[in-house]
Amino acid sequence: MTLQAAQKSADSSKALYGGKGTRRITVHDIAAAKERGEKWPMLTAYDAMTASVFDEAGIPVMLVGDSMGNTHLGYETTVPVTMDEMTLLSAAVVRGTRRALIIGDLPFGSYQEGPVQALRNATRLVKEAGVGAVKLEGGERSLPQTELIVQAGIPVVSHLGLTPQSVNTMGYRVQGRSDEAAHQLLKDAKAAQDAGAFAVVLEMVPAELAAEVTRSLHIPTVGIGAGAGTDAQVLVWTDMTGLTGGKVPRFTKQYANLRQTLGDAAKAFADDVVGGAFPQEEHTFH
Ligand code: KIV
Repeated sequence: MTLQAAQKSADSSKALYGGKGTRRITVHDIAAAKERGEKWPMLTAYDAMTASVFDEAGIPVMLVGDSMGNTHLGYETTVPVTMDEMTLLSAAVVRGTRRALIIGDLPFGSYQEGPVQALRNATRLVKEAGVGAVKLEGGERSLPQTELIVQAGIPVVSHLGLTPQSVNTMGYRVQGRSDEAAHQLLKDAKAAQDAGAFAVVLEMVPAELAAEVTRSLHIPTVGIGAGAGTDAQVLVWTDMTGLTGGKVPRFTKQYANLRQTLGDAAKAFADDVVGGAFPQEEHTFH
């Protein structure tokens, strides 16, 4: 084997997705992937069983997003999600996984008061749930929070572009379309990086702008509705598997139809019970 081939094979064995490592992924692995120019996938997760499936599939990073408000808790937005709910579900995801880096979201109201409140709640997610990192919304506006959490030794992801916790002022629309907004997004991304964030989520921003942010940062960008030019891509798992009822965002690709599959299984079970076809002898104790 040539030196180049040996180096390439050593690098691919370290890959976040498809690599051979079995220990838990850290922010250092994420930084190394950016240096290698490696793209990587991230999914949301909200419970131990589903998270274990994604872990076994090799998904290297999972986000216990406050999207749990919509997907699992029956709220209309992410705004009502509490620290207790976030801690409970994050702990379940950590318990269900062995390899993935688990990021816990700081929900609305858990960091807006200031850096001390932010650090207290980030610490809670690390100590009680066991997450490896936290995410919060905002660049410049959340700078003091990011700085203090990072100084305390907790890795932070910044969430920019469409920030759903601000739905009441921002709505759900593509961000960064005007020159001024694009300029602010770039400033936010650099400010987050300078404050010590190890990655930046870019939600619903024009692809060209997301690619420019990606080129101008040394930390990775994670896109959701931000085109193909980011370092990583994240999707809400219930959207990408077709479990979410009703309309899903245009940027989602649907890889399965779980809503149909689960509904069909429930109906088949109900028909068997009503018709006397379940249980059979093999399901019965004597
Ligand atoms: O809460 C969430 O799921 C998120 C992703 C959309 C990035 O913040």
